[in-house]
Amino acid sequence: MNPVRPPAPLRPRATLLHGADYNPDQWLEYPEVLEEDFRLMREAGCNTFSVGIFSWSRCEPSPGDYQFDWLDRIMDRMAAEDFYVNLATPSGALPLWLTKNHPECVRMNPDGRRAVDAGRHNFCRNAPALRQHVRAINTELARRYARHPALAMWHVSNELQGECHCPHCAEKFSQWLRARHGSLDALNHAYWSDFWSHRIASWTDLPRDYVLDGLLLDRKRFASDDMADYVDFEAEPLVAANPEVPIVTNLMGLHPQISYHRLARAVSLVADDQYPQFDAESPDFPRQLARSALTHDLMRCLKGESRPWLLMESDPEGRVLWRNYAKLKRPGLHHLQMLQTIAHGADGVMYFQWRKSRGAAEKDHGAVVGHYGGNRGRVFNEVAALGARLQKLSAVRDTRVEADTALVFDWDAWWAYNLARGNFGSQTPNTYVDVALEHYFALWQRGISVDVVPPHADLSRYKLVLCPMLYALRDGFAERLAAYVHAGGHAVLSAYSGFNDEHALWFRDGCPGAGLGKVFGVWLEEIDQPRPHERVTVRFTDGSEAQAADFIGHLHAEGATVLATHVNGLFVGQPCATRHTHGRGTAWFLASRLDEAGQRLFYDPIIAASGAAPALTNLPSGVIARRRTGENGRFVFLMNSTAETRVCPLPAEHTDLETGEHLTSVRLAPFAVHVLREP
Ligand code: GLA
Ligand code: ZN
Repeated sequence: MNPVRPPAPLRPRATLLHGADYNPDQWLEYPEVLEEDFRLMREAGCNTFSVGIFSWSRCEPSPGDYQFDWLDRIMDRMAAEDFYVNLATPSGALPLWLTKNHPECVRMNPDGRRAVDAGRHNFCRNAPALRQHVRAINTELARRYARHPALAMWHVSNELQGECHCPHCAEKFSQWLRARHGSLDALNHAYWSDFWSHRIASWTDLPRDYVLDGLLLDRKRFASDDMADYVDFEAEPLVAANPEVPIVTNLMGLHPQISYHRLARAVSLVADDQYPQFDAESPDFPRQLARSALTHDLMRCLKGESRPWLLMESDPEGRVLWRNYAKLKRPGLHHLQMLQTIAHGADGVMYFQWRKSRGAAEKDHGAVVGHYGGNRGRVFNEVAALGARLQKLSAVRDTRVEADTALVFDWDAWWAYNLARGNFGSQTPNTYVDVALEHYFALWQRGISVDVVPPHADLSRYKLVLCPMLYALRDGFAERLAAYVHAGGHAVLSAYSGFNDEHALWFRDGCPGAGLGKVFGVWLEEIDQPRPHERVTVRFTDGSEAQAADFIGHLHAEGATVLATHVNGLFVGQPCATRHTHGRGTAWFLASRLDEAGQRLFYDPIIAASGAAPALTNLPSGVIARRRTGENGRFVFLMNSTAETRVCPLPAEHTDLETGEHLTSVRLAPFAVHVLREP
């Protein structure tokens, strides 16, 4: 495996990035449209554009026939306008000549059949012909543009995804397995392969069914590693031509199939695509906001520590075609969404897409510029108003979010939990994220900043570490968590954590395993999963009550102090939540899945004891604060998540970064965001 690509800053320019995917290649026969684009881009306060993402057939209409005149003109114009370009390599969609001449460039399904040849995001990453043609065009792009004044970063391919089962990929997987397991005996033990006579006798002859969850887990790990390897491959000629230009690829938020902890190794800057469904009229709206916040916090921490990142794609309109419904963004929501992203550490927000295409698959998808109307449209004007605001907020560029709480998030644990449900379980594949969000939400609501980190992160800098549902533990994690608590940290572990080791084999020392039972002072004997919507009452020691559902744990306190007990159900009288002193720290355990009120009751003493603090205290309910800190100063983002006006008292005089006003309290209109400079 290649080394980790060092993190790179956005290129020096003291402004927040604002822009969109731009497809002039669809409009070359309409010069007046291209002219209008540049006029409107400036009017919208945009400065950065992703160009060339799917333009292979324009750049190379037939093998070796490179046609870059149009792109030269666009790049030069971008530079003349003082705009930035995020220039893409074109492998996101293969030209038809390539798939016709080399059908093996298209991915193979597990049944041995090829995927549909057209479309996009469907290539085999390891077919020699694919690599040869990609290498050739990337080399041309690098030769032409690596030192172009408009170039800000390289965008490798698009939304990398998928597994291929062709012989090339199978061979690479078997090499990966050899490196991981060393011997077939070790592999068979790790996969518990005597189950249903699945003993494996050769590195290449692997079962393709669902039985060995350890093997399926390794396949997923390999697919993510293989994507990282592929980014490295694409980046090679780009970096050789100019090592200063950052390498990015657009991630897809909390993607269920790709471990971004693995893929992020290959990029120098994190860029993410997010299409949340924001519905302020739904009672779920606070959780929608918190889910975005969690995703942001994860992106910010993907390169090892809190770092500036980019929202590369988002829908300015609310018309996301692939959702069940497309509720347009209500007033205020666009600014709230974008400024929340910046509050969580992004240094730029961008859209898919600048202009709606006239035809083809996404012609009705949200965009900044619609099919007609130029600058008259509602969406355009919301975007332009945001552009003007971002210019006034440029002092926050390069500042950082600091957090004293971490939430350990692990794709391996997510996959291991889902795979352990086998073909028999009824749990939806998102249970892991839903549970992580419930824990995150308890802190989000209180305005406490959280780093969302992988299990290998350094925990010692945090006051509080949440470990929701870490079903399978990576080697060494239990020991590090124990040492963290012993040294004075506060750790939270929830039901379904610490069941398996990293091969997805059960621990044999009880549950949570790997010694964590002693750290938390508990034994979780079993979990009842009653019918959906069935409730169990839980009572805390102060008499407050809440409801639990879905998972009801049969917990034994073995040294821990009981904080809450099940009042009915199968485990009546048994503990639901506990606290245990270990060394100088405290280990908190939650055995059942609590409702929102229960989560709040559970977290109250944890937050008090750990000292995890919000950016501002005494805020009215529904107002969330986040802080960014750096050489330019300390900035507080106050975000109103409610449809009502809220007045926030400030502990000292703050300056409104946009208006320059000095304030001792702030009046926030519905969904409004204000950014204040701290004294
Ligand atoms: C993804 C892709 C874009 C576009 C959008 C539509 O994020 O990267 O090309 O298809 O989805 O939502
Ligand atoms: Zn393949």
